[in-house]
Amino acid sequence: MAKSKPATKTKKKATPLAAAPSAPNVDIGISTGARKEIADGLSHFLADAYTLYLKTHNFHWNVTGPMFNSLHTMFEGQYTEQWGALDEVAERIRALGYNAPGSYAEFVKLTSIPEEPGLSNSADWKEMVRQLVVGNEAVCRTARVTLKTADDGHDDPTVDLMTQRLNTHEKYAWMLRSLLQ
Ligand SMILES: [Fe+2]
Repeated sequence: MAKSKPATKTKKKATPLAAAPSAPNVDIGISTGARKEIADGLSHFLADAYTLYLKTHNFHWNVTGPMFNSLHTMFEGQYTEQWGALDEVAERIRALGYNAPGSYAEFVKLTSIPEEPGLSNSADWKEMVRQLVVGNEAVCRTARVTLKTADDGHDDPTVDLMTQRLNTHEKYAWMLRSLLQ
């Protein structure tokens, strides 16, 4: 009796999985180059705005002296408003197709505002107010540069956002400066 041939396993062809639809490229009517440039500008703005936010909150905690009550309250109003705006800026970067910086290390690298430690030898209230004037003005300068880049790239939402932030930070700078005059 002839040995029956061992059954050869027929390799079943794997049915290809339906290709997952990949995310389409960002195509919102702004060139890739312009989107990158605007997102970079917004990242610098976010770093400045975050550093100023933290400094304002730091001074809310650590302010002392005869101006305590009014400055403690004023700083709280400012940092609370700034906190909400940070989210708008970061989400605009995402809408342009890029990642938002989101760590202290990145912010320190990108910001033009020096930090102020809240240690026991904390600055006096006048020095705090002076630093916040300077910080708000630094934020304004970065906003102005980013606004120009966005305007050149016909990115109206970023122009609008930077205009709003300029309006607010110029007002903060004026109010804070008035305390020293
Ligand atoms: Fe508080």
